[in-house]
Amino acid sequence: MVAKKRGNQAKKASPGKKPAKTRKKSASKVPSRPVKQIRKVREMKKYLKEVRSRRRKVVLVPTMGYLHEGHLSLVREARRLGSVVVVSLFVNPVQFGPNEDLDRYPRDIRRDLRKLRREGVDVVFCPDAAEMYPERYQTYVDVTEVTRDYCGASRPSHFRGVATVVTKLFTIIQPDVAIFGEKDFQQLVVIRRMAQDLALDVLVVGMPTVREEDGLAMSSRNAYLSPAQRQQATTIYRGLRKAKQLLDSGERDAAELAAIAVDLLREEHDLVIDYVAVCDPETLERIPEVEKEAVLLVAVKVGDTRLIDNIRLEVKGARGRR
Ligand code: PAF
Repeated sequence: MVAKKRGNQAKKASPGKKPAKTRKKSASKVPSRPVKQIRKVREMKKYLKEVRSRRRKVVLVPTMGYLHEGHLSLVREARRLGSVVVVSLFVNPVQFGPNEDLDRYPRDIRRDLRKLRREGVDVVFCPDAAEMYPERYQTYVDVTEVTRDYCGASRPSHFRGVATVVTKLFTIIQPDVAIFGEKDFQQLVVIRRMAQDLALDVLVVGMPTVREEDGLAMSSRNAYLSPAQRQQATTIYRGLRKAKQLLDSGERDAAELAAIAVDLLREEHDLVIDYVAVCDPETLERIPEVEKEAVLLVAVKVGDTRLIDNIRLEVKGARGRR
C-alpha cells in the first residue's frame, strides 16, 4: 500500500513497446558482494551525496536489527522500488520506556549483515547511540493525536522516540522512499502523519505483515517467548481472523467484532490483553461500526513480552475511501 503518489515513481511500460530488459532482483540471483557499513552521520551524508549526483533513487528500510523474513520482505520491496537500498540497524534507546526491554532487545549484527548481503543491499547505516544522540541532544518530534491511544497510551514516550529517530534518519539519508511493516500499524500511521505534516519529501510505503506458518506475526520480540508462550501467542492471529470471519458473515458492530477476539484471547491464562480496538485505518479513531473499512488492533502481554498485531476489516462490495 502506498501512502501518496509522486512524480518520480516507476513509469508504466507503454503498450506495443518492447519491454526494457530488467535486472533480476531475486535474492538467489544476486552476486554476493559485501555490504558497505557506515557508522557515522557525516560519512553517510557524503556517500549519499555521491549517490544522488548519479540520480539514483534511494530507498530506506529503517530497522532495529535482529532481522527476520518480515524485514527481508521490506528489503525486497526496496530493491524493486529503487536503485540504492539503505537499511538502518539501530536499536533506538529513545523509543524504549524506563522499564522496557532496551537492554535485552536481541542484537546480532553479523547475522543481520549476512542476511542483507544475500539480499543485495547496498549500504547499512549502523550508528551507535552517541552518534544519533550526541551530548546536549535536545530535539524531539511529537505527533499528537494519532499517538494518544493504544500503544501510545501504554508506552507514553514510545512514539516520540520513533518519530524523532525516523525524522533524523530521513534528514540524514533523504530517501525517495521509506518502507515500514504494517504489523506496527499505529507506527505506520504516525510516520505517515509526520511525513505529511512536516512536508517531508518521502514516499512512505507500508508492507503486509509476514507470518509464521501458524499465523503468529513475525517480530524480533518473538525470540523472548518460551515454547509454551509461543504456542499461546498463536491465539492473537486466530482472534483477529475470527473477528474478520464475523464481519464477513454480516456483523458490523465494532464492539461485537472486538468481543469475539477478546473471548478467544481470554481463554489463554498467561495472556494479558492491553487493548483490542476497531478503528479507522487513517485517523485511528475508534468507530462504532464498520461501514467500509477498518482495522482491528490488538496488543497483549505474554509473560513479560508485549506483542502487537492487526487485521484489516473490509466490507465486501462497499466502496472504500480511496
Ligand atoms: O519498527 C521499528 O523497528 C522501529 O520502531 C523503527 C521504525 C526502526 C524506528 O526505530
